Amino acid sequence: MRRFALVASAIVVTAAMALTGCSTRGASSGSTDEASGFAKDAVIGVALPDKTSENWVLAGKLFEDGLKEAGFKGDVQYAAATNTVADQQNQISSMVTKGAKVIIIGAKDGGQLSSQVQAAADAGAIVIAYDRLILNTKNVDYYVAYDNEKVGELQGQALLDGMAAKKPEGPYNIELFSGSSDDANSAVFFGGAMKILQPKIDDGTLNVVSGQTDIKQTATAGWLAKNAQDRMDTLLAGNYSAAELDGVLSPNDNLARAIITSVKAAGKPIPTVTGQDSEVESVKSIMAGEQYSTINKDTRALVKQAIAMVQQAQKGEKVETNDDKSYDNGVKVVPAFLLPPVIVTKENAADAYANDPNLEPLTQQ
Ligand code: BGC
Repeated sequence: MRRFALVASAIVVTAAMALTGCSTRGASSGSTDEASGFAKDAVIGVALPDKTSENWVLAGKLFEDGLKEAGFKGDVQYAAATNTVADQQNQISSMVTKGAKVIIIGAKDGGQLSSQVQAAADAGAIVIAYDRLILNTKNVDYYVAYDNEKVGELQGQALLDGMAAKKPEGPYNIELFSGSSDDANSAVFFGGAMKILQPKIDDGTLNVVSGQTDIKQTATAGWLAKNAQDRMDTLLAGNYSAAELDGVLSPNDNLARAIITSVKAAGKPIPTVTGQDSEVESVKSIMAGEQYSTINKDTRALVKQAIAMVQQAQKGEKVETNDDKSYDNGVKVVPAFLLPPVIVTKENAADAYANDPNLEPLTQQ
């Protein structure tokens, strides 16, 4: 009830501010007079999680270059020293100490940054959650990401389409994988996919042979390929000595390739496997007819949008958002700027990557 009241009042405040054209920044922490902006060469912190997916590696480089080009002093860090949330907590604290005016965070663990973002708010810094939402704190001012629920829906639909292309009639045997439970995106991706898949499980079109449909059973700790490969090995050994596996819901490319490696090692035909991130090796795999789909979430566009938000704040302008209702972090509804993800299969790859110099050549066959 209390939680509902909080959410409801946040929605009312957000809606009222949208109507009056006010920024929600003041409402969220009230610690900075946004209208005054800040220095053009301010320190801007960027705290990224790890390098398990190519998109994070690319984001770091793009932030370095983009912030420099915009005249800021970028301080870009990865939680890589011990690959734990403690690394990221220390990095954010040090960005606050350095006087960063905006701290952009791709959370290593979205539930464990409350003290650090409180310190940022106390120091008057704006906090932007990048790609992954930061949970259970009022001190996250904005969220910039691809529409995560849509990503999940596209993956669920691609799984159905890919299997139907190979075998027009069901029932289909499938297995489900989700991401790391410390990443708020994992439940959103999985929820989006299950919106599409659950009705088909209920009507018998899909059969999850292992019976593992709960997100706790499907999770892949740390988003690590090895964990997905081990789980797939176990699923195959335990459930598919006779049965045929038609499809696997994979939340991203790195895990998709691990799943395919496991299936190949077991000497089975490759099922329809979904993905996300447009990783080079997965685009090659799609063009070779192995992985079925990926999602294009162009990192260049996301970083560009995040930097545009920094520039708006610097000038004291209203920071633009386009979805102020969907992302409830448990304490507030975080105003978000969401970009549209695009499903990619072999069929539309050339079109989808037409303006991407790294990926476009891979699609020319
Ligand atoms: C990102 C995905 C990525 C995953 C693992 C998620 O939060 O949205 O693009 O594949 O993390 O790094």
